[in-house]
Amino acid sequence: MKIIRAKDYNDMSRKAANIISAQVILKPNSVLGLATGSSPIGIYEQLIKWYNKGDVNFGECTSFNLDEYRGLTADHDQSYHYFMHKNFFDAINIPAARINLPDGAQMDIEKECERYDKAIRAAGGIDLQLLGMGLNGHIGFNEPDESFSKGTHCVDLTESTIEANKRFFESADDVPRQAYTMGVQTIMLARKIIIIVSGENKAQILRDACFGPVTPMVPASILQLHTDVSVVADDAALSLCTEKELR
Ligand code: F6R
Repeated sequence: MKIIRAKDYNDMSRKAANIISAQVILKPNSVLGLATGSSPIGIYEQLIKWYNKGDVNFGECTSFNLDEYRGLTADHDQSYHYFMHKNFFDAINIPAARINLPDGAQMDIEKECERYDKAIRAAGGIDLQLLGMGLNGHIGFNEPDESFSKGTHCVDLTESTIEANKRFFESADDVPRQAYTMGVQTIMLARKIIIIVSGENKAQILRDACFGPVTPMVPASILQLHTDVSVVADDAALSLCTEKELR
């Protein structure tokens, strides 16, 4: 794992955006794996700025998002489709036909998971996967578990996730109970991975993920076994790592 230290959230966002834009410049038809959440917003803002200046062009790219709530249509303002369009896709020139997310409106789980994995394979696999990390080390919606998940699958959201997300909905009853997510194996098949981590509240889990044992109880720890992972983290998130670990 390569650890790239950033001063703060903005610095982390710029450094990670640099890696993504270098990827797209070097390989204009890159297949990008993308994430939602608060961590990547600064990256998308930076990439939009560079796109507007003519420095990077997404016209030949394909994208696959990590996850989507099951039960929400694409136009629901809490769907990840909506998030991605609002925060990134609508401001750049990636062709609509090459944007991929799990279809939250598809109720047939097996059919949807198979379709998504097949689409990733048909695109030639993911060149660069962007990840955020949950407070418990989750990546995508792959929560701590007894084993690592494989392909795209449907997960039941935990009570704490439903509780945490209810502020975005009218009531807790409106929060989706399930989500589609790429599996850990899908993520590990990406040729290159960058994981962005910001803030003191993620310092312990970041240290566990990078330097602790590889265990499905800390899903992000599996990234230690990937040959091309860059962890782009700010000083607050790295505050519990020792200088020796960071060297
Ligand atoms: C989002 C995703 C999640 C988030 C993680 C961190 O597509 O897959 O795993 O990356 O929950 O979320 P934030 O960035 O909001 O702290």
